[in-house]
Amino acid sequence: TPVRLADYTPSAYAIDGVRLDFALDIAASVVTAEIGFARREGTAAGAPLVLDGDELTLASLLVDGVEVPADGYTAAPDGLTLHTPPAEPFTLTIVTRLNPSANTKLMGLYRTGGNWCTQCEAEGFRRITYFLDRPDVLAVYTVRIEAPLAEAPVLLANGNPVESGPVPGTDRHFAVWHDPHPKPSYLFALVAGDLGLVEDSFVTMSGRTVQLGIYVEHGNEPRCGYAMDALKRSMRWDETAFGREYDLDVFNIVAVSDFNMGAMENKGLNVFNDKYVLADQDVATDQDYGGIEAVIAHEYFHNWTGNRITCRDWFQLCLKEGLTVFRDQEFTADMRSRPVKRISDVRLLRSHQFPEDGGPLAHSVRPEVYKEISNFYTATIYEKGSEVIRLLKTLIGDDAFKAGMDLYFDRHDGDAATIEDFVACFAEASGRDLSQFMLWYRQAGTPVLDIRDHYDPVRKEYRLTLAQTLAPSPGQPTKLPMVLPVRFGLVGPNGGDMAITAVSGAEVNGDVIVLDQPVHEIVFSGIGERPVPSLLRGFSAPVRPVFNLPMSDILFLMRHDSDPFNRWQSGSTIAMYLLTAAAQTFAAGGTPEIDPAYVAALGEIAGDEGLDPAFRALMLALPQENDIAREIGDNVDPDAVARAYRFVRRELGSRLAASLDAVLGEYGQSAPYAPDAAGAGRRALANAALDLRAASGDPEAIFAVVERFETATNMTDRIAALSSLVQNGATEAPRALAAFYERFSKVPLVVDKWLAVQAAAPGTATLDAVKALTQHPAFSFRNPNRIRSLVGTFASGNPAAFGRADGAGFDFVADVVLRLDETNPQVAARLLVSFRSWRSLEPGRRAKAQAALERIVAKPELSRDVRDIAERSLA
Ligand code: ARG
Ligand code: ZN
Repeated sequence: TPVRLADYTPSAYAIDGVRLDFALDIAASVVTAEIGFARREGTAAGAPLVLDGDELTLASLLVDGVEVPADGYTAAPDGLTLHTPPAEPFTLTIVTRLNPSANTKLMGLYRTGGNWCTQCEAEGFRRITYFLDRPDVLAVYTVRIEAPLAEAPVLLANGNPVESGPVPGTDRHFAVWHDPHPKPSYLFALVAGDLGLVEDSFVTMSGRTVQLGIYVEHGNEPRCGYAMDALKRSMRWDETAFGREYDLDVFNIVAVSDFNMGAMENKGLNVFNDKYVLADQDVATDQDYGGIEAVIAHEYFHNWTGNRITCRDWFQLCLKEGLTVFRDQEFTADMRSRPVKRISDVRLLRSHQFPEDGGPLAHSVRPEVYKEISNFYTATIYEKGSEVIRLLKTLIGDDAFKAGMDLYFDRHDGDAATIEDFVACFAEASGRDLSQFMLWYRQAGTPVLDIRDHYDPVRKEYRLTLAQTLAPSPGQPTKLPMVLPVRFGLVGPNGGDMAITAVSGAEVNGDVIVLDQPVHEIVFSGIGERPVPSLLRGFSAPVRPVFNLPMSDILFLMRHDSDPFNRWQSGSTIAMYLLTAAAQTFAAGGTPEIDPAYVAALGEIAGDEGLDPAFRALMLALPQENDIAREIGDNVDPDAVARAYRFVRRELGSRLAASLDAVLGEYGQSAPYAPDAAGAGRRALANAALDLRAASGDPEAIFAVVERFETATNMTDRIAALSSLVQNGATEAPRALAAFYERFSKVPLVVDKWLAVQAAAPGTATLDAVKALTQHPAFSFRNPNRIRSLVGTFASGNPAAFGRADGAGFDFVADVVLRLDETNPQVAARLLVSFRSWRSLEPGRRAKAQAALERIVAKPELSRDVRDIAERSLA
């Protein structure tokens, strides 16, 4: 049965304290929970206490130390009801037995790499003990852990360490942790095992010293330096940028190799997928380093946005996730290049969130109904949730935004809050009515912004007609107009922005036009020459603009716009135009063409030493096959798209040969490695140039890639070369793949890259290769990272192979989903999301995809996770 926002009511009972005792054992752990309950105001004396559970086995139940008679309660794996609790506050002692080794869902208490670990968000705590497992029930926790000393010398939980020591007369020892900050159960964590430790410390702005620890599998200690540095920079940044100080004596991070998601912000004890901790230049790419920096920051920032101020219910998930993504994006922008970060984030938004928003899985940033909350950790909640906050900042201005954040921290510290609470702080700080802004949280779908313009030289008037529309989405047949800030400039013939003196037709604040009606006619007067409009600078709102600006104007912006985002956007708009035109030409049996003016502009930018190499690399990065398919929108033939993609790359690679060779002359030699933004930018540019050269098919260029692969001194260059050989169908590719595996077979995170490169290979043979790799000793259906690298890359990153005309790609992924559903439904459901754009395929493939989805739905014993995604996908 679905859960609805409208049905929210507080729990009948509150929890005033929790003592947990874990007697850890590999297969038979015992958890004793002593939970203090008190009736909330309005709850009748003796009203039943209903607790959540999931696959639990109850061993005993006591109220105030007295065993509850059998008719006093009802216990099932999925819940426990105490029929007539005492009227006065009471303590419930619940003993449950768990088998962590059998827990393949990786939710609750489970085993990974020979250690014990927990994951409780969203509803994993109920797999440990019966509880009011909801985010608005906050309590102070004290945790005692007992385990065999030899197997688990390290015993960690939330908060501060209190005491530890041997358990006399046994081979076991214990540790007690106390977390003084009231928290919801989803932030509980425990880790026990034989782990290596990297230590450091941090002095907070008020002068308190915090002990920092990163725990990893023995042998990985040398790979923790970058994560530790990122942590300290995050702690400092949150102080300077948001005035937020850390609030415990210790902050620990544990890296584990089996983890469903990226990482988890448990209070004082963050648990990470090791992919977001471990790095050195031999095993990690620049992209991995960037990911580590961002995720370390993200989880750390949750301490205030998520932990100190948490969510009232899971409908408010974006309250912590959207805001924390916004904060980590700002952190990276400050640490690295702001424009490059913005472009990368918008690329991610378009490739992950836009297809979600435009398909059957569309939901609002604050959903109003769900069947399985795990399925709502989506790009819409995270990435669009962040865009909405960025848009709010643009709307009310930096100062009011800062005042609103301060008010939010001040007013809601210790609360389980709602989006309304959050937005009210900004309404108050800015004095602006934000009721229309709230629609960004309520209405799903990507608004389309239709743009028309007209210049009248006689009246010296420039007119922009801006019309917004929002298509229906599941459960939302009609939509209202949104408030939509359009950051803009009118670019004059000299490439500079024209001065704007008189504007009518909309609220204009500085360089921001605020749209709040379906259509605005904006008139600029005193404009002496026809301007080229640069709209949505910095991507000031998450919309899809439709604007038939002449190609020459877009080229002009690509060359001259003072806004780096729109320079990139203009290049990308033209590239997309060429790619979609080529795909349609191929589908119609013709021969496509490439605009030489675009080629010339791209060559100039690639070689412009006045520009950041990272930016130039982004200019050279074409839209991907999935992006092209999304732009085409319906009746998509993935083979025609793949052909167009390869055609344009081949053309650019040969026509830009001279410019690309010049870039390689400048940046092609490997310099000593440092994972900083500048070095990463130079490598990105060189690798993009080399790859595009190789795409021409020129044997010399291919040879240069082989040489790069063989002589690379870091993983960034090595994997870029390997991928280029595979993508460009080089005859050397198989040998290079074998050599790579030979060298890195013992490093699972590098094996993931090897799997992903093969899963992304062009051609119809890829499906068989991927199937064969599922049998490879390096692959395991038990490890989420392996599954995502191989099957996830195949399903989400290789549309022509996944969407093979014979339907075999769909069938394979459906088979994997069904198989995985029996062990790890969360990961299975995530994989199934790769079908989300099936309706936009041409009819033959559409029917095959539908049949695969229907086969999944037809299985009677499906998890709630997979059934939810499959049914919504078909609806
Ligand atoms: N709160 C975590 C983060 O974004 C994500 C955890 C989600 N876990 C899950 N099982 N759905 O930082
Ligand atoms: Zn998060």
